[in-house]
Amino acid sequence: ASTVADVIAAFRRGEPVLVHDAADREGETDLVFPAGAVDAAAVARMRNDAGGLVCVALSDDVCEAFDLPFMQDVLDHPASAGHDLRYDERSSFSLTVNHRGTFTGVTDEDRALTITELARAAADPDRVDFAEEFRAPGHVHLLRAAPALLDDRRGHTELGIALAAAAGLPPAVVVCEMLDDETGAALPPGAARAYAERHDLRYIEGAALVERLG
Ligand code: 5RP
Ligand code: CA
Ligand code: ZN
Ligand code: ZN
Repeated sequence: ASTVADVIAAFRRGEPVLVHDAADREGETDLVFPAGAVDAAAVARMRNDAGGLVCVALSDDVCEAFDLPFMQDVLDHPASAGHDLRYDERSSFSLTVNHRGTFTGVTDEDRALTITELARAAADPDRVDFAEEFRAPGHVHLLRAAPALLDDRRGHTELGIALAAAAGLPPAVVVCEMLDDETGAALPPGAARAYAERHDLRYIEGAALVERLG
């Protein structure tokens, strides 16, 4: 695994980093990008190499400024009742959105536009009218980070936003789970590490980030 300093430096340069949360949590490795560095090729890499859901995590402050709720709190449907996640107290899912400049919203170009515009908006939230720029529902899942980040919750949502803060970047990061093409399960940590080595990327354990950034 890489050092936390190496991971922060790579992230600051706009490189994706691989973050494994914990064996006793999801047990997933997400490919994590600074949202401002994502282009169509990066979305293609997430679809093809990672294979999970492409999500943008935003800080609690930014979500407050944009009035972005937790999905669980706004869905008026019995399926949203009850908290039975087995790996955490709650999900960080907020709305799904598309930038209003997209067509369908799902293409690599469209998702890259939505993601980079989210990064721009998160850099200066007070000057943004969110609903003027984004529509919901859309094809990019928003995640709302816990207010006290790693003191509150240790999901990829908080790990990613803590990494952005340490790198001096806006509080908007893209996360996408790496799945195993053979089994469909979460990509095992050893295989995630091997992918990182093949592509000269940094891999880090959530616990190491918690220790240094928590
Ligand atoms: C959304 C998820 C991912 O696991 C993502 O990493 C965000 O969740 P968390 O903060 O709980 O790790 O389920 O695709
Ligand atoms: Ca694949
Ligand atoms: Zn996760
Ligand atoms: Zn997940």
